[in-house]
Amino acid sequence: MNSGWRLSSSVLVMLAAGLLAVAPGGTRAAQLRDPLQPAGHWTERNFGDAPRPPMGWNSWNAFHTRIDEAKLLGSARVIVESGLRDLGYRYINIDDGWWLSRHQPDGRMVVRAGIFPSAFNRDPDRTSFRPLVDQLHAMHLKAGIYTDIGRNSCSQGYPQPDSLLPIGTIAEREVGLYGHVHQDLALYFDEWGFDYIKVDGCGLNAFAPDRPAVEAGQFRAFPAYVVPDSINQTRVAKIRALYTEVRDELIRLRPAGNFVFSICNWGTANVRAWGRDVGNLWRTSDDIDGHWARMLYNFDSVATRELYSGPGHWNDPDMLEVGHGDFDAHHLAAARTHFALWAIEDAPLIIGLDLRQAPQSLLDVLGAPEVIAVDQDPAGNQGVIAYDSDDLEIIVKQLAKRDQKAVVIFNRGTEPVKATLTAAQLKFAVDAPIAVRDLWRRRDLGPFVGETTFSLAPRASMMLRVTGRPELRDGVYLSEMPARIYVAADGIRALQADPQIHRPVYMGDGTTRGAGPRPALAGWGGPRADSTPYDNVLRLRGETFRSGIGALANSRLEVRALGEFARFTARVGVDDSSLERATRVRFEVYGDGRLLAQSPKLAFTDPPYALAADVKGVDTIELIAREFGDAHAPTLVTWGAAALTQAVSRAAETP
Ligand code: GLA
Repeated sequence: MNSGWRLSSSVLVMLAAGLLAVAPGGTRAAQLRDPLQPAGHWTERNFGDAPRPPMGWNSWNAFHTRIDEAKLLGSARVIVESGLRDLGYRYINIDDGWWLSRHQPDGRMVVRAGIFPSAFNRDPDRTSFRPLVDQLHAMHLKAGIYTDIGRNSCSQGYPQPDSLLPIGTIAEREVGLYGHVHQDLALYFDEWGFDYIKVDGCGLNAFAPDRPAVEAGQFRAFPAYVVPDSINQTRVAKIRALYTEVRDELIRLRPAGNFVFSICNWGTANVRAWGRDVGNLWRTSDDIDGHWARMLYNFDSVATRELYSGPGHWNDPDMLEVGHGDFDAHHLAAARTHFALWAIEDAPLIIGLDLRQAPQSLLDVLGAPEVIAVDQDPAGNQGVIAYDSDDLEIIVKQLAKRDQKAVVIFNRGTEPVKATLTAAQLKFAVDAPIAVRDLWRRRDLGPFVGETTFSLAPRASMMLRVTGRPELRDGVYLSEMPARIYVAADGIRALQADPQIHRPVYMGDGTTRGAGPRPALAGWGGPRADSTPYDNVLRLRGETFRSGIGALANSRLEVRALGEFARFTARVGVDDSSLERATRVRFEVYGDGRLLAQSPKLAFTDPPYALAADVKGVDTIELIAREFGDAHAPTLVTWGAAALTQAVSRAAETP
């Protein structure tokens, strides 16, 4: 294949994936630029107010649409009085159920004042959430509201027998943002003073012309932009464009950036790839519930997305189910595991429990200060999988202090497991003592050298903070700084569902009729830390790399060096697990737009090539893997032992 074909084919793929379609204010020419062309600067957009994963409370998991003001304020008071607010839980978010109707013909949204009495107005069309928001602000809390990106809401699309639904004519029941973005956001943020908005997506999938309620004339039809189990039928670019319109309106309304924008389209529409550009958090999966298996599904949907999250922009595996079902006060070990997993993945910590009823034991889980500190660590590095099996996982997260990591050792299975944690998994020196702190018990355990072993009951986990001597003494592996990597082009040509995500029984209609939940969430093939895109170990001609970045060919990664390093090194090549073996790949390293180093065009059979570049003073490094030849299958590339160091590092350059 010639390079002209390659360029246009990758642009077409980008367009199909909705990656280029909505660069705000961008010209068509700019949008059609070669996605592998170095940008010369860090291109991630910064907006909103989420330097750390948002923390707070939301009404949905506790009450569904049966929310009311007393319930909301009751939980808010517990958050203040129990000290949870001072641990970081700030947002009190109203979910589905608050709305009565959209007044006609002016289109102003009307609050269901019967359940939110403070919103009452003598003129029933002029209800206002302002008094409630003021009250929350007076409690030093922040307030969140909920809407939908389409015309109608999830509770209308998937009503439960007791759902509180909007009332009135078809137009009065169109409570979603579609066609009202400016009007509604101005009402919610300017007039009512909200700080946070969650924008759901049911208006784009539950009101297709063939839906019984639509055929019966209850709702206006809306084409099924989202087809949850079919990424190829989902209209990715249109969905991204709708959410981008909301982002831009929020930026206009709140130029100081005092808003949080939560995208809730359940991991569909390849949101993995664009959520970071559009929202402050984006759901990575369908709804959580109180079942262990469902929690695994939500967890798995973020666990391999470590390169897509960072300060300002977070993967969201959904709100917490601590206190419900398999995570209730009778199952505290499982509750701690769920909470620890969310913390190590930098998930937003949004409580979903009626706190008025919560026993102290559950408040202690939600309020574990040293576990919360891991979630809120300022470096914002999501945890990276260090050991993986279907039964046991070890996840390691680099903390802001260079010699500290958080670790979760997690027994997913049904048997007790002896789990050995090694210095190598932590990327710590094997011959230096490693101090260990148990973050639940808030107690130091004895230090170890080399390795240490724990016994874990089924569904139990350990959450530790370890302090040791970094393996790379004068620098850092790129896979230890995922928050500072931005995936500018992922190289994916055809979106594929991720087969690694746990598929619990009781999804869909809640029964085991039919064929079961099959892989549905796109993302298979995205770049990874310490793994190939398809979850293999990184390996070049038989040489295994415990540290490195795995990607597809025709990818471009931006690395935020911020002038802190002197040298970039990596051993690169076409990975042993590559599906395509006939093409060649050139590895290019740019610093602030200047070519600093490149490999020859490497074939599958070539040994690893040592790349080194002087990056003194460089703010943004770009790593580009450019493919030559006619590819018939995905080409996997490995940036083995990729590292940034102060000086030449032996560890990074010798096998
Ligand atoms: C969707 C969302 C949930 C909740 C409900 C409300 O299912 O994913 O978090 O907001 O809608 O109806």
